Amino acid sequence: MKKTLQLMIIAAGVILLAACQSKKDSEEMTYDFKMEAKEVEVNDPHTLSNYEDVALKHLQWDAVVDFENEKIQADATWTIDNFTNSDVLVLDTKHLEIQNVVLNSSQKTQFELLEGKELYGRPLQIEIFPDTETVTITYNTTKESSAIQWLSPQQTDSETDPFLFTQSQSILARTWLPSMDGPGFRFTYKANVQVPEGLMALMSADNPKFVSNNGNYQFEMDQPIPAYLFSLAVGKLEYERIGEQSGVYAEPTVIKEAAQEFSDLPKMIKAAENLYGSYRWEEYDIIVLPPSFPFGGMEHPRLTFATPTIIAGDKSLTSLVAHELAHSWSGNLVTNANWNDFWLNEGFTVYFEQRIMEAIYGREYSEMLASLSYEGLKSDLEEMSEEDTRLRIDLENRDPDEGLTSIPYDKGYLFLRHIEETIGRENFDQFLRNYFDTYGFKVMNTETFVELVEDKIIQDNEELAEELALEEWIHQPGLPENHPVPVSDNFAQVRELTDPVQVDQIRSASKDWSSHEWQHFIESLPNDISLETMAELDEAFGFTQSGNSEIQFDWYKLAIEQGYEDAYPAIEEFLIRVGRRKFLRPLYQTMVDEDMKDWALEIYEQARPNYHSVSFNTIDDILDYEA
Ligand code: BES
Ligand code: ZN
Repeated sequence: MKKTLQLMIIAAGVILLAACQSKKDSEEMTYDFKMEAKEVEVNDPHTLSNYEDVALKHLQWDAVVDFENEKIQADATWTIDNFTNSDVLVLDTKHLEIQNVVLNSSQKTQFELLEGKELYGRPLQIEIFPDTETVTITYNTTKESSAIQWLSPQQTDSETDPFLFTQSQSILARTWLPSMDGPGFRFTYKANVQVPEGLMALMSADNPKFVSNNGNYQFEMDQPIPAYLFSLAVGKLEYERIGEQSGVYAEPTVIKEAAQEFSDLPKMIKAAENLYGSYRWEEYDIIVLPPSFPFGGMEHPRLTFATPTIIAGDKSLTSLVAHELAHSWSGNLVTNANWNDFWLNEGFTVYFEQRIMEAIYGREYSEMLASLSYEGLKSDLEEMSEEDTRLRIDLENRDPDEGLTSIPYDKGYLFLRHIEETIGRENFDQFLRNYFDTYGFKVMNTETFVELVEDKIIQDNEELAEELALEEWIHQPGLPENHPVPVSDNFAQVRELTDPVQVDQIRSASKDWSSHEWQHFIESLPNDISLETMAELDEAFGFTQSGNSEIQFDWYKLAIEQGYEDAYPAIEEFLIRVGRRKFLRPLYQTMVDEDMKDWALEIYEQARPNYHSVSFNTIDDILDYEA
């Protein structure tokens, strides 16, 4: 008996040792991460332009922003490289009115808007000649130019002046700039923008810090960017510096809170540079937009666009800033070749974001963040069609925004974390540093990334190849069995108090909970929670009136599911004020699922005029709404 036990212990030891050994092996392998940039194919299914014949090198954009008529009147002058001697240039446009086209500043030419596709717009075909160096398109945007949201003064925080912002990702740049609208085509630009006196204009370029005295602004961007990063914001704005190379723009009523909330920005930049090399874009600023901004954040070079819903007063939602900052490497520097490779932009960025947060706030903090996302990913996986749960998906003839799910973000993150945990953090960091250096201002696709991992990491080590399971991670649906699982001790303690819910114990245990613990708490509440318990919790912890948008969102969703009517007025207010699609979609969807579509429509009638097209197009579908 004693002997068998001994034998068993030895056997277990041997197995354990073997398991550790393989990990050790890969950590102790010798690597040479030096890379030479390979040619990467763009193969973009979402552009109708003739990018295989002509390249756009530089843009001169002269524009007048007309708030009264809600349109932009512009001349876009493209400097081209006609490397195939093509006799036409074909550009993406959608809902633009083309007035005229001239070559080399003054030469008349033939041009025609061809029949296109509902989704991709109408290609503008322009006759060009061997001596054509520049092509100037005179055009205006229209009410259907869905990248742009025009806000009346009442829709801003100050309520004194109108506001405008653009959102070009994924394929909306073509609704305000005739262009080759794909992530694989980069250009430098200069712009001359006229706005009403007293307003400030900002772009993804070198930006003003003060309001000009005549409403005229000059921009220069000498680092090439793809069209989806071309951006404009106009409004009553102020600037406040935070650190040497960073700061924040916001409406005067918001600027102080914003500067306070983002005061760790210099730390974030430093942490990011320590990880993956110098920040290549000179200045890093954030603009806080009105609450109708349809996303949490958007990584325009030098000027991240952000929703005001991350201003919680306690910096608890600023991982979003780390995320957009991280895009300055993953996405803006090394860019997905087309939208089918979107996970290369977002998965890398979530991984990088996590590393920044860990470096500044510690492992437990970043594990809480990772756990929240992981739980979201698991519940999305249950609901999504299996086809769409692969990292690399085929979005041809679909709106690339349909790929905007937790798969590229959080499955992508887990995949990279899996590589890190397999080969060791130091090794993976070196790999990434070389990756950003080698492919900076270039594109990347899934195929080439796999080749890089095979050449530089796997190096014919079959065991390692098996462990990394690249094919399964990238091309198979769902999550591989051996995926990493974030672990938060804080969250484990929170879960002990949720089923059954013990309000008094929670009261004392939660003294130093952060909003992340509260979020996890609400998300862990039992499905059959009673209305009495909800009321008791609300009374004790004030969820309905929370100033934290993530907590509001979680609580409101639960309230709709359970029919907790005390929260309804707050839900209505939230849906009318906030246009961030990540919140809107599940809330409206839950209303429909719970047979409250009439109520949803009632709110939507009031709310819709406040939403950007990105949001109202999504919600129109959920509610079968016809404008
Ligand atoms: N680039 C994305 C936003 C985006 C993706 C816009 C695809 C249009 C199409 C941005 O970096 C992003 O991921 N934003 C997230 C925040 C992030 C912390 C997950 C968002 O807006 O919620
Ligand atoms: Zn992102």
